[in-house]
Amino acid sequence: MARQRRPIGGARVAVPFVVAALLAAALPGLVAQDLAGDRAALLALRDALDSGLLLPWNTTEPSPCGWRGVVCSNQTLAAPQRVVELRLPGKRLIGTIPLGTVGNLTALQALSLRHNGIRGGIPVDIGNCAQLTVVNLTNNQFTGAVPEGFFSLAVLRKVGLSRNHLNGGVSQDFNRLKQLDTLFLDSNDFASALPPGFYLPSLSRFNVSFNAQLTGPVPASLARMPASAFQGTALCDRPLLPTCPNSMPPAPPPASPSTGGGKC
Ligand SMILES: *[C@@H]1O[C@H](CO)[C@@H](O)[C@H](O)[C@H]1NC(C)=O
Ligand SMILES: *[C@@H]1O[C@H](CO)[C@@H](O)[C@H](O)[C@H]1NC(C)=O
Ligand SMILES: *[C@@H]1O[C@H](CO)[C@@H](O)[C@H](O)[C@H]1NC(C)=O
Ligand SMILES: *[C@@H]1O[C@H](CO)[C@@H](O)[C@H](O)[C@H]1NC(C)=O
Ligand SMILES: *[C@@H]1O[C@H](CO)[C@@H](O)[C@H](O)[C@H]1NC(C)=O
Repeated sequence: MARQRRPIGGARVAVPFVVAALLAAALPGLVAQDLAGDRAALLALRDALDSGLLLPWNTTEPSPCGWRGVVCSNQTLAAPQRVVELRLPGKRLIGTIPLGTVGNLTALQALSLRHNGIRGGIPVDIGNCAQLTVVNLTNNQFTGAVPEGFFSLAVLRKVGLSRNHLNGGVSQDFNRLKQLDTLFLDSNDFASALPPGFYLPSLSRFNVSFNAQLTGPVPASLARMPASAFQGTALCDRPLLPTCPNSMPPAPPPASPSTGGGKC
């Protein structure tokens, strides 16, 4: 009764393979990257940011590992060689970072593009770079909000976004970056209140100075930071001298013309 009548051994082998191939095609972000992919991503980034070809990268070399500012991992039996650091500070880079460039450097641990003229948003696919521990984009022209993908970079330790034009609120999603010890957001256009529940257990250095539209109380977990971390904002409460109003200012009932409610 239960005897198989048709041989299906071939299908048993083929089905998992086909499923894997379909998955790979459907989820391009999960396709394994390699050094050749890193090289293509670096060249596309250079095309976008270095129209004057100031970076002396020898594009005849098949490997990008000798290019200035590029550091690769050492090949091991367990892992192929990948680009793990990209540091191009003060290289007169101008333009916007396209999708599929930095976001394709999926083994990147350190990214420094500080002191350039990069415009536009922080690329939303930076969330693919799950190994990043250091990101320094200080002193560029970045605009827009910190993209959602940034908050999935779970091993980030140092983040420098100072001196850009980033805006939006300072998201409570920063709490997801539990290993963060340095967070510099000063001299941007961040606005509204800091999240009261903002809490990063390892944070030792923090700065939101000169974001004039930040208002409301300093979150309790940041009261131990120096006052200079909050200068040039409309924030109040410790460590700042201006004390926040104790409660939301209640709208005085217009029907009761009581006077003499002297504040003290
Ligand atoms: C660029 O790399 C190629 C291949 O490794 C090499 O033959 C050539 O001399 C290099 N050019 C310069 C300017 O270093
Ligand atoms: C690769 O190995 C060399 C020599 O052992 C070492 O100096 C270098 O730091 C290693 N590079 C990385 C990225 O680990
Ligand atoms: C980045 O990766 C995507 C998906 O794997 C690929 O389609 C794209 O061509 C890559 N970008 C570059 C510049 O190679
Ligand atoms: C980013 O680079 C600047 C120097 O340009 C440095 O002062 C700052 O500490 C760096 N930030 C981080 C988070 O490493
Ligand atoms: C915060 O940044 C401002 C502006 O760059 C600087 O003047 C201040 O000393 C910094 N404070 C701390 C605690 O980092």
